[in-house]
Amino acid sequence: MPPPVTSLGASSAPRQENRAGRGAASQDIVYGGGGIVPANPMVPRSFRVSRSPSDASIQGFRSNGCSGRRRPLRIVREAHRGAPPSLSNVRILLTGGAGFIGSNLVRFLLSHRTDVELINLDLLTYAGNLENLADVEENPRYRFVHGDIADPELVREVMEAVDVVLNLAAESHVDRSVVSATPFVRTNVTGTLVLLEAALEAGVERFVQVSTDEVYGELPWRDPTSADPGPRFTEETPLRPRSPYSATKAAADLLALSYHTTHDLDVIVTRCSNNYGPYQLPEKLIPLMITHALEGAPLPVYGDGLHVRDWIHVEDHCRGLDLALTRGRPGAVYNFGGDTERTNLNVVNQIVEAVGADPETITFVEDRPGHDRRYAISFGPARAELGWEPRIVFEEGLHTTVDWYRTHEEWWRSVRAEEYRHPDEPRRSVSPDPPPTRHSTRP
Ligand SMILES: NC(=O)c1ccc[n+]([C@@H]2O[C@H](COP(=O)([O-])OP(=O)(O)OC[C@H]3O[C@@H](n4cnc5c(N)ncnc54)[C@H](O)[C@@H]3O)[C@@H](O)[C@H]2O)c1
Repeated sequence: MPPPVTSLGASSAPRQENRAGRGAASQDIVYGGGGIVPANPMVPRSFRVSRSPSDASIQGFRSNGCSGRRRPLRIVREAHRGAPPSLSNVRILLTGGAGFIGSNLVRFLLSHRTDVELINLDLLTYAGNLENLADVEENPRYRFVHGDIADPELVREVMEAVDVVLNLAAESHVDRSVVSATPFVRTNVTGTLVLLEAALEAGVERFVQVSTDEVYGELPWRDPTSADPGPRFTEETPLRPRSPYSATKAAADLLALSYHTTHDLDVIVTRCSNNYGPYQLPEKLIPLMITHALEGAPLPVYGDGLHVRDWIHVEDHCRGLDLALTRGRPGAVYNFGGDTERTNLNVVNQIVEAVGADPETITFVEDRPGHDRRYAISFGPARAELGWEPRIVFEEGLHTTVDWYRTHEEWWRSVRAEEYRHPDEPRRSVSPDPPPTRHSTRP
């Protein structure tokens, strides 16, 4: 366990005060004391926050191996705006950490940053799965809080215990947003607003809003094999979201930037292209096709299969988020992309080959309404300012991903029934549902 003094940045310049006047050089926070309360008896290492006004401490946040006695923790806040926070002994609030990218990011940060502590705040919707984090749940630098980012009381309490925020929690599936946009507005817009307000009040040092390239809308179609690269989204491209999902992400993205402009909150927005890799639910194109191919089931491709996406391995995205958090410029937007444009049909054909499936299983199904034709993204500022670029070649990353699904059959079989539940349906226990027949080309 790192020492209880958290130092952010080396500068001695005074920290600017935010609206709540919380710019003090130091602050006392009390952890532990209330005992550990499992959020769910099935999940013994999960914790919830005490809702009792008389006990504002976060239950479960105490040093591993320590008794449950209250101990004061003094957090020294020396950072000032403009200086990226050092990740030395920093407590990070990571929301949505039980999802696909979130769980990969938890693992990435714990293994690459040996002195940070993570609080994962996740509602465990159909998309959140603590099985994704089974290998880190005993890590003394990791804590799970079961809760909703749209719950102001809870969020305020958690925010008091952290220095920086990485907001990944979202309703993320475009097809579901076509069925009902309501949960998307609540989590993606209201939830982000609640986090921003609480971050401002608590005086957190940095707020990274994880957005998406879908906020830019679509590009005219272009053959990805042609020599002409064609237009790409840049950070300056006007936002023209076309699905309810991307509209709510754009709202959250702009809200976050407005808190930088208006309230001087240190905000960074990242917009990334299509991720793939381990622990992605098989409602998304690549894992759906892999799992169907492994079973010899039909491979349903939307429309003509010529929609173009830019694919990035989730580990490259995680490295970008880490760099945005540590090196990013306050108020900046960073695109992340894989430099890998492929048609959906090309991706499916590669999966068929990697799995050794029958190409005859590819079937074309009715297209999704408003299905964006092409995304392509440039990432000059991430390269120039963060020293970031994607490292994992798509064809290699795809093969390792196929291998991962081949060796984690129990995982994808158990999540599959859960993931196709409508967002308004209550959670249910896993049942052997037949595989779904539709997919999204976009989380
Ligand atoms: N997957 C991609 O290709 C991609 C690309 C660019 C950006 N993004 C963004 O990255 C983030 C993570 O994407 P993902 O694919 O891992 O999503 P995901 O659907 O796999 O995970 C979302 C997580 O958020 C949690 N969550 C949902 N509502 C919540 C709430 N109200 N409070 C707390 N937790 C809640 C879920 O339980 C789940 O664990 C999202 O913000 C998404 O918009 C995703």
